[in-house]
Amino acid sequence: MASTHGAAEVLVASNRGPVSYVVGDGDDGAAIEAKRGGGGLVSALSVVDDKLWVCAALTDGDREAVRRGISEPGVRMLDIDADVHADAYNGVANSVLWFVHHMLYQTPLEPSFGPEFRRQWASYEAYNRAFAEALAEEAAPGATVVVQDYHLTLVPGMLRELRDDLLIGHFSHTPWAPVDYFRMLPDDIAEQILKGMLGADRLGFLTRRWADAFTDCATRILGGTSGTRIGVHGLGADADFLRERAGRPDVEERLAALRAQVGADRQVIVRVDRTELSKNIVRGLRSYELLLETRPELREKVVHVAFAYPSRQDLAVYRDYTDEVSRVAESINSRFAVPGWTPVVLHVKDDFARSLAAYRLADVALVNPIRDGMNLVAKEVPVVSDEGCVLVLSREAGAFEELGEDALVVNPYDVSGTAVALGAALDMAVEERAERTKRLAAAGTALPPGQWFLDQLAALRD
Ligand code: G6P
Repeated sequence: MASTHGAAEVLVASNRGPVSYVVGDGDDGAAIEAKRGGGGLVSALSVVDDKLWVCAALTDGDREAVRRGISEPGVRMLDIDADVHADAYNGVANSVLWFVHHMLYQTPLEPSFGPEFRRQWASYEAYNRAFAEALAEEAAPGATVVVQDYHLTLVPGMLRELRDDLLIGHFSHTPWAPVDYFRMLPDDIAEQILKGMLGADRLGFLTRRWADAFTDCATRILGGTSGTRIGVHGLGADADFLRERAGRPDVEERLAALRAQVGADRQVIVRVDRTELSKNIVRGLRSYELLLETRPELREKVVHVAFAYPSRQDLAVYRDYTDEVSRVAESINSRFAVPGWTPVVLHVKDDFARSLAAYRLADVALVNPIRDGMNLVAKEVPVVSDEGCVLVLSREAGAFEELGEDALVVNPYDVSGTAVALGAALDMAVEERAERTKRLAAAGTALPPGQWFLDQLAALRD
């Protein structure tokens, strides 16, 4: 249909883009500052120079930038009505689809799909349509488009209708729900999501398990995957970037500060997460508490350094969870602390350099999500670890498929089992720890972000 095709040969679409804008103070014509994001997707996509990244305006600063016509080269930010975006992002994507794929509902009470959900769903459709229309406008004839994640499940089907000349891919960064759980969604919505995604030529998932779950859903609900190809691309950590970044002075500085805070001759259990319901931070703290209870000889000999960075704070359930994490950490400290030893050090202010310092210092890394698409922390720690680090890893993390053999594997609901695993990790001989760390680092960096993206483009064009 569109008679005026754009010029972009490779297009990427995601809710969160590579840049965000902050409006300075000052009165008239306040300056706008662009802040480049450093996420995994940003580094993955940097391997293709000539591309257009279509993303949503997320903040007031972003919206102001779009209105003033300010943009970064290679980025088109969509100024979607703030209420529509809030319904689509907070209401549908993060409160429903994220909950379904991570199996986070407390089912006696939720979910409950009534008129409010239907209203939010209409916004989700409008928001997806805005992306599809922008992509249709920007894409050159025969261009390649890669759509990202659960925010944009309807885009492939909508875009296919607008432009049947395009090669369309979709990649899911989350787990995919088992079919019986996915079918909690109203039938028409479940069908719409599956059909929307199957509008793509190819769908990508982080693990075989998530890809198979999608295929099950499509087969049971629609009778098949209607010719759409499905592939697995297990995103790995970026070894070169991490090693270089972890050696810089700001990381050294934070490492010295952390060492001073922990105290000499103590072992360190580290976790680094967004304060995210699926990350299972509270059970992790309870496991550590149980360890101190059941193995009193470890008291004063170990510190749990927990970084839990606030996330999705527009949602009450995330705010409550954030409070609960602090409360539990404090209760452990008030129960066990003695002068000169604080058993839990909790930091909530996001600081990438300090996270890297903690990775270097860790004797044990705790990665115990209820469910996780991949979990890159599990892959990053072994790469920068100074002296070897034992990985205590949930079998429900996507990373388990590649790292399961050399990690100490836990059932994330089993607090007692996790406490035992943490103890075993602290007890492990340094030689064994170092050997395992080496193998974990190799496995976790097998598919670096740039190659991960290039592989997807090649598979899509194949
Ligand atoms: C997960 C999702 C991403 C998302 C990220 C951060 O990794 O798969 O799509 O960007 O969480 O969440 P946020 O809601 O802050 O974008």
